[in-house]
Amino acid sequence: MKESYKICFAASECFPYVKTGGLGDVAGSLPKALETEGCEVKMFLPLYGGIKTLEHGIKKFEEISGVAVAVGENFHVFDLWKATLPDSEVEVYFVDCPHYFNRPNPYTNDPDEDERFIFFQLAIVESLQRLKWSPDVMHCNDWQTSLLPVFLKTTYSWDKLFEKTATLLSIHNIGYQGMFSKDAILKAGLSLENYSPYKPFEHKGTFCFLKAGILYSEIVSAVSPTYAHEIQTSELGAGLEGVLQTRSGDIYGVLNGIDEKIWNPRYDTFIPYKYTTSLLRNKVKDKAALLKEAELPANDELALVGIISRFASQKGFALLAPVIREIMELPVQFIVLGSGEDTTEEFFKELKSAYPDRVNVYIGYNNKLAHLITAGSDIFLMPSRYEPCGLNQMYSLNYGTVPIVRKTGGLADTVKDFHEFNETGNGFSFEDYTPQALYSTMLRALTMYEDKKVWKQIQLRGMKEDFSWKHSADLYIELYGKAIAKRV
Ligand code: ADP
Ligand code: GLC
Repeated sequence: MKESYKICFAASECFPYVKTGGLGDVAGSLPKALETEGCEVKMFLPLYGGIKTLEHGIKKFEEISGVAVAVGENFHVFDLWKATLPDSEVEVYFVDCPHYFNRPNPYTNDPDEDERFIFFQLAIVESLQRLKWSPDVMHCNDWQTSLLPVFLKTTYSWDKLFEKTATLLSIHNIGYQGMFSKDAILKAGLSLENYSPYKPFEHKGTFCFLKAGILYSEIVSAVSPTYAHEIQTSELGAGLEGVLQTRSGDIYGVLNGIDEKIWNPRYDTFIPYKYTTSLLRNKVKDKAALLKEAELPANDELALVGIISRFASQKGFALLAPVIREIMELPVQFIVLGSGEDTTEEFFKELKSAYPDRVNVYIGYNNKLAHLITAGSDIFLMPSRYEPCGLNQMYSLNYGTVPIVRKTGGLADTVKDFHEFNETGNGFSFEDYTPQALYSTMLRALTMYEDKKVWKQIQLRGMKEDFSWKHSADLYIELYGKAIAKRV
């Protein structure tokens, strides 16, 4: 029989309130799936200045307010706000402390970035005490919440409320570790005793939140099975592979799911023509609408390649520059949506000025346009150097938009390379992280694009993939059981 656990889900972003990347999507959908599978979930988020409380029905939670929390020698006060995650009964509590969270972006390079997330995590524990709610599992996500396992086992170890609370830390991206100076240990109210080589708080001369979380959690998960393996290697462990290897028996990979109410061409409220496997002609209409929106001429001979991404080196766009002339000789158009590193923004802007009829580029964040690009493109390009899970390739597959990806992390677990003779595969992938490998894979895909019959079969195989959360939620519930068994 499946257990129904009480889960406290701690995250630094959650759709629809605040999202910078895939963690937002996961935090906005996994808790709902856990609830459907019988768990009771309470979620905690910071109340960032950009969150629209009125629009999302987020109301002041009068029972808990004016709580003072010490960060080092300074005290700051928080109030709690509350909402219910849309289409669910998941309670979402927002930690309101304008001193730390009323800033233009959720993540900053400000000198008190460490304090912001130390405060957030302490506020979660203080809130649980006041709610008198004892979670079976504290599910933490990335470095912003990875000190919670430490706090429960040190600062709050006296509190019987958490005596049986087990912790699971999900790693969404090992490239971001929360590395701060030694002072952060004192700000967190922790002991400097653990700060020396090979001790849990020290990593490369810093206090590394993620390392501490990895060592203090009962169970560690990564967001795809391949990534769970990759982070334990020197190539992709980002310096934490040694630490992870010491926990290898407790590391699991669980592939993210997708919210099929939000990312589904049958129901998508952001696209002009909804469609299913038997109504693919509407996808053609969405392509026309997208080209119109992007002010690019329609041309049936050209495949439309979509890109939606954070521009970070992880995403592999550096592979494009050396072969871009050759790529532009192929029958393609590009629509690009993203923002981030200057070099990538500049590269795409220059591409647009060099090929105004074949490329349009939107620098910025635009959820509606992201849906239209996902539906209206023929191909979705994701040449990531590494990709813990990746959601866009799963969205694309389900929208009949054929992905071209590098075979790494979650991309390797979801995109099956097309095989001409076996007639298998739902997309195209390449292994070598080289511009040539990217180019030859694009060439291979575009050759197949000309054969409409074969192309349709590739699309249909992608659309039939089941990425719903149910399966992954069940796997998490199994991991919760393992974490609880280890805690007792
Ligand atoms: P990551 O979390 O590494 O950025 P994922 O593929 O897991 O990568 O998730 C990215 C999410 O953010 C997707 O939902 C994608 O559609 C969205 N996204 C990324 N960039 C933009 C953008 N510029 N505008 C709108 N949505 C974006
Ligand atoms: C991270 C990863 C991405 C993953 C997302 C959600 O941002 O970069 O690959 O899909 O987290 O887990």
